[in-house]
Amino acid sequence: MKIWLSQDAAARALGADEVARALTAEAVQQGIELQLVRTGSRGMVWLEPMAEVEVDGVRHAFGPLAPGDAAALLAGTCDKGQGPTEEIPFFARQTRLTFARCGVIDPLSLDEYRAHGGFAALEKAREIGAEGVLSELTDSGLRGRGGAGFPAAIKWTTVAKAEADRKYIVCNADEGDSGTFADRMLMEGDPFTLIEGMAIAGLACGAAKGFIYIRSEYPDAIAILTEALRIARGGGLLDGFDLELRVGAGAYVCGEETSLLNSLEGKRGVVRAKPPLPALEGAFGKPTLVNNVLTLASVPAVITGGGKAYAGYGAGRSKGTMPIQIAGNVLRGGLFEAPFGMPLGQLVEEIGGGPRSGAPVKAVQVGGPLGAYFPPALFDTPFTYEDFDAAGGLIGHAGIVVFDDSADMVAQARFAMEFCAVESCGKCTPCRVGAVRGVETIDRIAAGDAAALPLLEDLCHTMKLGSLCALGGFTPYPVMSAVRHFPEEFQLAREAAE
Ligand code: NAI
Ligand code: SF4
Repeated sequence: MKIWLSQDAAARALGADEVARALTAEAVQQGIELQLVRTGSRGMVWLEPMAEVEVDGVRHAFGPLAPGDAAALLAGTCDKGQGPTEEIPFFARQTRLTFARCGVIDPLSLDEYRAHGGFAALEKAREIGAEGVLSELTDSGLRGRGGAGFPAAIKWTTVAKAEADRKYIVCNADEGDSGTFADRMLMEGDPFTLIEGMAIAGLACGAAKGFIYIRSEYPDAIAILTEALRIARGGGLLDGFDLELRVGAGAYVCGEETSLLNSLEGKRGVVRAKPPLPALEGAFGKPTLVNNVLTLASVPAVITGGGKAYAGYGAGRSKGTMPIQIAGNVLRGGLFEAPFGMPLGQLVEEIGGGPRSGAPVKAVQVGGPLGAYFPPALFDTPFTYEDFDAAGGLIGHAGIVVFDDSADMVAQARFAMEFCAVESCGKCTPCRVGAVRGVETIDRIAAGDAAALPLLEDLCHTMKLGSLCALGGFTPYPVMSAVRHFPEEFQLAREAAE
């Protein structure tokens, strides 16, 4: 009997290893020959620990499982069946391009990776050469998935055209945004896709060396990637492209590309001024392509299916699919890969099922701790870079954190300033000093000081325009969106104090 069981960090945190042990012990006791395949997650975190069993050639999902369900699962009498996995509405409504293999295959099996289309893109890239790859990327309209949404083809072409004796490909796997986990899920569930994407980038940009800079808080992803790199090197798959894993030391700002490069070089993780752009002067002073995990992991799908086909998904200038992460106080939290354009409210209410508490939604924060709060009045905003920008927010790394009506928006605004004060690298004054003053100013508002609100707006304006990087520059988004959409709470805080 064959059972697939997720070993994703979220599944393990919810007891997947205990379920695995129970299944193994029960199989021995019942004399059943069990083949237990540990996979990545299918993204339906609310069903974890989730196992799949083949019924008439189709994988059926069972979850959330407890160790006590092992005997029934093996006997075929488990009452936690969800039906065919790919027919569960949360899954069926997705378009899985980047995450096509995640949760399906054994993450460290090269045979399974190949059997599911793996390495076809790298082989095609070798046939069409650097020019061909850059042309497909241009056609695809792929934009940086780390948050800024910068056109990938422009960045790749800048590095490719730069004259230098050495160039580097750097993968930003320092996924620090609250409510985001797509990078981790991909690295744990389908690491060869990232490795393949980086090898294609090396070929297109003329780089023979790459680094994956990963946050230390991801021990499972580090272990899987280490093993995947050993397997890929051993199989001679990278064809002269040398790939190294570097582990960060826990600073949020090291997710900012220049700070990351400093850390990679063994220096303190402080932001560098741009220009020079990393594409021209990056790691060790050489032209460097810095892309997020999801950007690089999307490249194999772009090359295999063709850039034009990829651009057929999405809306306007937001092309392709986005692995959206739904988290917070929500019934069905997980990873939902879909073409850009779905209205925010549909993602929150229909896909996510609304708050787990059963209370109404008050706000959702989109784009991590630097993202704006969206009230239900803005739930018709289509999930695209342009529409979110026009609504005063950003999609960032596509993390959506849901809050019900018990959320205290003054406290949330204060938290944003506090977060910035703690994580600031200290290089520029608007952020280093501004964030501390921001916490104090919000405390004054909460204490009933009516003069402090315009001061907060003025401070946010200065931080937005005067900060050197996105940490100080974007902290005003959550703060000012809380003030804009929930003015009565800031008023109430004052009245309560009076
Ligand atoms: P940015 O707009 O300064 O740059 C975007 C990228 O394009 C950079 O790699 C830059 O070097 C490159 N670039 C710009 N002009 C170029 C040109 N002419 N040629 C070649 N390359 C060029 O944005 P930044 O500061 O890199 O990122 C900000 C974003 O990061 C925010 O939107 C935020 O959402 C996101 N973020 C993501 C986090 C995560 O955990 N994924 C954490 C914190 C922030
Ligand atoms: Fe450093 Fe903050 Fe300035 Fe960014 S905005 S360079 S984190 S002090």
